Amino acid sequence: MTRDDSSERGTEPVPDGGTATGEDDVVLDPWGSATVSDYRKLFEEFGIEEFDDVLPDVPNPHYLMRRSVIFGDRGYRRVTEAMRNDEPFAALSGFMPTGDPHIGHKLVFDELIWHQQQGGDTYGLIADLEAHSARGLSWEEIDEHARDYLLSLIALGFDPEEGTLYRQSENRELQDLAFELGSKANFSEFQSIYGFDGETNVSHVQSVVTQMADILYPQLSEPKPTVIPVGPDQDPHVRLARDLAVRMRYFGVTKAYASFEADEEELSHVAAAYEARKEYADDPDMPRCEDAAAWLAENGDPDVPAVETTISKLENAGMEPLRPRVRFLDRNATEEAYDALIDAIEGEKRVFDEHIDVFDYSRQDAKALAREVEMDNGGYGFIMPSSIYHRFMTGLTGGKMSSSIPASHISLMDDPEDGYDKVKSATTGGRETAEKQRELGGKADECPVYELYAYLLAGDDDEFTKRVYDECVGGERLCGDCKEQAAQLMREFLEDHQEKREEAEELLDGLDIELESSRR
Ligand code: TRP
Ligand code: SF4
Repeated sequence: MTRDDSSERGTEPVPDGGTATGEDDVVLDPWGSATVSDYRKLFEEFGIEEFDDVLPDVPNPHYLMRRSVIFGDRGYRRVTEAMRNDEPFAALSGFMPTGDPHIGHKLVFDELIWHQQQGGDTYGLIADLEAHSARGLSWEEIDEHARDYLLSLIALGFDPEEGTLYRQSENRELQDLAFELGSKANFSEFQSIYGFDGETNVSHVQSVVTQMADILYPQLSEPKPTVIPVGPDQDPHVRLARDLAVRMRYFGVTKAYASFEADEEELSHVAAAYEARKEYADDPDMPRCEDAAAWLAENGDPDVPAVETTISKLENAGMEPLRPRVRFLDRNATEEAYDALIDAIEGEKRVFDEHIDVFDYSRQDAKALAREVEMDNGGYGFIMPSSIYHRFMTGLTGGKMSSSIPASHISLMDDPEDGYDKVKSATTGGRETAEKQRELGGKADECPVYELYAYLLAGDDDEFTKRVYDECVGGERLCGDCKEQAAQLMREFLEDHQEKREEAEELLDGLDIELESSRR
């Protein structure tokens, strides 16, 4: 097996229009190189939401949030609501034990720890199946690195007694869930999402299904909003997991106006016709479908295909009155669960083979009932998982930060003196001469050293971070001194962290997590 499974990263199209070819294109490839040339494209092309929009809703936001290091999310609002209302929520992320944990991983460790401190049920997992199948690491190597990741996570403040740590390979419940989820995904999807092809090894496919199970694992005991803090390269996984969460649900809940089925677009035209009922109905309490059809034929845009299909559906319904209702759709329900839902619904209901219409429920109440019945009848009742995305750190040498280029990153296990030296020899955003720097100011926005301050060295101290920035761009700060200060802080951080790692040893050994793989 090769470390670099490049055969699996062909030129297949990736979701949402990006392609793996053109140089300027942004590609989100979980097994490719973790860089993003243009974060804005992630909003425009991939539909990731801007974190700034949800930031005001976050109680005591972490400094990585305040400083826009966390820049995007999917559905994080749901998690903030749970935090604010003191309702259960969870956070989970995973680590491929392919090398030393480094300062890039620290971002995710910190995100998990913060969510744990906010009261979340928090999980850290070792993606050993993925490391073995997608990167070809041996079990010996995996064991060694796994231990190092866990020690750093605990040393940084993760409470393993409150939270959960596991390795994919040793978690039977997880594998069972993976198997169930796998029944709702097929290989064509994997081809289009990940570029898998006939050469892709089957264990790699299995490791993806396992990651889907990881993401939904916190909800096995009960459905709850869950955030997955990751880099944007993991977004394809998050999207698939969000889809699978929905596909596993027993019932869908939608709005309807008459007995026929309509898609979302058609529904909006029916809604418009319903709102206009006074214009055409003899009795506005009973607007007839056929009259609504006539109204839509006159008022709708004939060039829109959905208008046409809506008109014909309304015509077919004839004399049936339009009447707003909430509809339960049978997606995956067992027969018993469907019957149980029928029994559980109160008030007026109309039962069909694959849907039930009700008139006395809000959509929200209907959704709650659907979840309750699903769970009482053997379903999971999953809530769509959410994610937050952090920026990738720039390498100290300017390019991307990569585990395979030692000078580009600082390992959490680096000798503190080496850490000091690496910072001292880092690329900066400084000018050619001190004179020019005083005149023009430094380019903090392009400086890996400034990033070190903002992402790590300044900790929670926003004022200090701002001072470094202002002094730099104002020309008062020169790179020599600035790097000296950063290097010293890095040395202190590494000394302190490594001391804490040692303290964590004992704690780790007392935990119920297999540190030596049974597969060795
Ligand atoms: N695929 C992730 C990586 O390459 C590791 C991972 C496995 C993960 N399962 C996960 C991340 C679940 C987040 C959530 O690093
Ligand atoms: Fe970077 Fe500091 Fe130089 Fe500014 S002064 S460019 S922050 S090293």
